[in-house]
Amino acid sequence: MRIDILTIFPEMFEGPFSHSIVKRAGDKELVKIKIHDIRAHATDKHRRVDDYPFGGGAGMVMMIEPIERCINALKAERAYDEVIYMSPDGDLMDQSMANHYSTKGNIMLLCGHYKGVDERVRDHLITREVSIGDYVLSGGELAAAVFTDAVVRLIPGVLGDETSALSDSFQDGLLSPPVYTRPADYKGWKVPDILLSGHDRNIAEWRHERSLERTRERRPGMQPE
Ligand code: ADE
Repeated sequence: MRIDILTIFPEMFEGPFSHSIVKRAGDKELVKIKIHDIRAHATDKHRRVDDYPFGGGAGMVMMIEPIERCINALKAERAYDEVIYMSPDGDLMDQSMANHYSTKGNIMLLCGHYKGVDERVRDHLITREVSIGDYVLSGGELAAAVFTDAVVRLIPGVLGDETSALSDSFQDGLLSPPVYTRPADYKGWKVPDILLSGHDRNIAEWRHERSLERTRERRPGMQPE
């Protein structure tokens, strides 16, 4: 899988993909994540990527031309399954959306800034808008990093133990059960006896019960599959 991220702040991506599971996925060549500086596609001598909004008002708007040039340069090299604009008013991301994109070949993520992008970008150049939650970030970069992390960990072969993604919260419409590690007794706070019992079937049952209980309490609207 390949994910191309279009941004005016490429430095923001120096951290999130260089560690842990996403880094391992890159090392195993299961994903290629490429960051593109939209400013490199600006045409004027000041490399301008934003301008004042027509009709007035506060804030700047990202211009269509550098964005289109960046998108077209990538499209000339390969076909894309989706060109996604990260936006707080897009389709709300959830685990099933992450599953959906984990099976795709090539995805582009466009990060907006300031007051957003010229509406004609949304009308003509992108195929979907995605939000990571009902709150407003300073730009689409953190949202693109969240999207990428959630999708990449689900690409087959990325997680060493194939079962570990299956037992993630949300994956089967249930939240995960609590987990514990040593010591079994920390200042009198004890690990539930059953987890120390060695009875695999009872432990599995206990975990399933805790998952159901947690889901009922914390996500009453969620439907176990
Ligand atoms: N850009 C700003 N806020 C965002 C959000 N919540 N989701 C996606 N992109 C965004």
